[in-house]
Amino acid sequence: MCGIMGYVGPQQAAPVLLDGLRRLEYRGYDSAGVAVTNGKIDVRKAEGKIDRLANLLDDEPLHGTVGIGHTRWATHGEPSDVNAHPHTDPSGQFVVVHNGIIENFQTLREALQEDGHDFTSDTDTEILAHLVANEYEGDLENAVRRAVAKAEGAYALVVMTKHEPGKIVAVRRISPLIVGLGDGETFLASDIPAVLHRTRDFLIVEDGEMVVVTENGAVIETIAGEPVAREVMHIDWDAEQAEKGGFDHFMLKEIHEQPAVVTETLGGRLDEDGTAWLEDVHFDDDFARDFDELWITACGTAYHAGLVGKEIFRRLLRIPTTVEYAHEMRYNDPLISDRSLTVAISQSGETADTLAAARLAKERGSRLLSLTNVVGSTLSREADDILYTRAGPEISVASTKAYLAMLIAQYLLALRIGRARGVVDEGLAARVAHGLSLLPGQVEQLLHREEEVIAAAEEILDAEDVYFIGRGLDYAVAMEGSLKLKEISYLHSEAMPAGELKHGTLALITAGTPVIVVLTQQALYDKTISAVQEVKARGGKVLAIAYEDDDQIHKFAHSVLRIPRADDLLGPVAAVVPLQLLAYHVARLRGHDIDQPRNLAKSVTVE
Ligand code: M6R
Repeated sequence: MCGIMGYVGPQQAAPVLLDGLRRLEYRGYDSAGVAVTNGKIDVRKAEGKIDRLANLLDDEPLHGTVGIGHTRWATHGEPSDVNAHPHTDPSGQFVVVHNGIIENFQTLREALQEDGHDFTSDTDTEILAHLVANEYEGDLENAVRRAVAKAEGAYALVVMTKHEPGKIVAVRRISPLIVGLGDGETFLASDIPAVLHRTRDFLIVEDGEMVVVTENGAVIETIAGEPVAREVMHIDWDAEQAEKGGFDHFMLKEIHEQPAVVTETLGGRLDEDGTAWLEDVHFDDDFARDFDELWITACGTAYHAGLVGKEIFRRLLRIPTTVEYAHEMRYNDPLISDRSLTVAISQSGETADTLAAARLAKERGSRLLSLTNVVGSTLSREADDILYTRAGPEISVASTKAYLAMLIAQYLLALRIGRARGVVDEGLAARVAHGLSLLPGQVEQLLHREEEVIAAAEEILDAEDVYFIGRGLDYAVAMEGSLKLKEISYLHSEAMPAGELKHGTLALITAGTPVIVVLTQQALYDKTISAVQEVKARGGKVLAIAYEDDDQIHKFAHSVLRIPRADDLLGPVAAVVPLQLLAYHVARLRGHDIDQPRNLAKSVTVE
């Protein structure tokens, strides 16, 4: 998704902007550009990686200490030099970058064309530059206000004009925007990691607000012009956390961070007796006792975490629980009521579909609990209760540590609710708490078995299709394993409940077809083995994820990746780690761009 940078201060703007854009690469992009003001407006932009833009800037440097920059993820118009941001008005006196989609773009464009405007790009963004220029009467804030009043959709829009040097004006509707406060310099960005190495003090721009940025700081008001008092947010993340830290890829680094992430997410939140203390979950025991049903909504990996959550809540709480893809739920008239608790899960807290589903749940009277990794994200700000995952910034597009942290958070939530409802007794709570406390060590142990995973990766490297099977919680983990593999290795893969195989997909299993089976659920062990037998009988190559003391599996599986024995309820946590590593090594061996897989973006802030 598009990344935004802005800078006003004493330094040359272009290198600062370029550096910030590089730190936003994890959002995914197809082109990049920067603009500076220095009596006039100069723009450099290029399709492709930021290095192309950097080369361009080496050849044709930009001079000026006020500037804006952008990484684009195409929505209107193909990735190209011309469609890359920034965009100017025809006179070149106004320049904009934009994240989001202008939904009435066609109508606005046609109206401007009738008035004689020519456009150089296919983007919706260029229209905004024209609109601002049209509306300008000596006051940039007012021009931006009047321009965005005509635009429908989602945007973070950042504007500069040569007429008002030393100033950047930005507005936010849905798409994220933050301000970093430095000493005599101020930064704008779509995400905190872009400037975390430069400042730890931030202002979060909310929906419907405008911010005017100068070297002396930032003034926020509503787009309508009402003053806003925004507290400075101090962020403690270690800047080191946003770097690769010696690993070849962010994904591998993030996989290896998981023992610490589990410890962090549990930290100070769980007593030995299973009492959970969740600092930003504000509902009281009466609410926890009384609500009738749980809804979980999310997309992608967060949805898969929700599938695990559903099973945890079902088993521990016996509460009817529905998990819905957010993009489905927002349009399917869900039967959510004021007797519901809705848990919206999102690493970024900015996923447009998840935000829309969460808002819908609130409109219908549900209490909203946001389970997110990003402090101050939109999802967190709109919630009644927040459960932060404390995984630290996740840079790789393929989510790993955030997923694991989402699982841990849901165990904690189940304990919090279960104790209040009286359905999780002391013995069970203490057992789960003990199992959770062992997890950091168990995950660590798994990370030392990478050689076995590499051998397994070599086995499936050239496969055409890979199938993942499991039952119950194992099926939920299989879904995540399959997504990880497909998004970075580009191998076709599918996950299904083990019992479903014989209802159709078995037709695709021939000699050598890899089938990965997850086998942590002891109550369903024999049933799952029946499916494994069906695969074996057709010559399929079975790779099993099984407990280290499983002394049967070698009879059925071609190869086995062992995981430490755990309570079945906690099995998914350890089981997903070899699957993450497997996806990583297949992608590495196939020579792919692991941290930024093709066609994908880290944070999907458009519908
Ligand atoms: O930020 P979110 O957790 O809301 O993102 C949801 C999905 O876009 C995300 O999990 C996506 O599926 C990942 N690339 C998976 O690795």
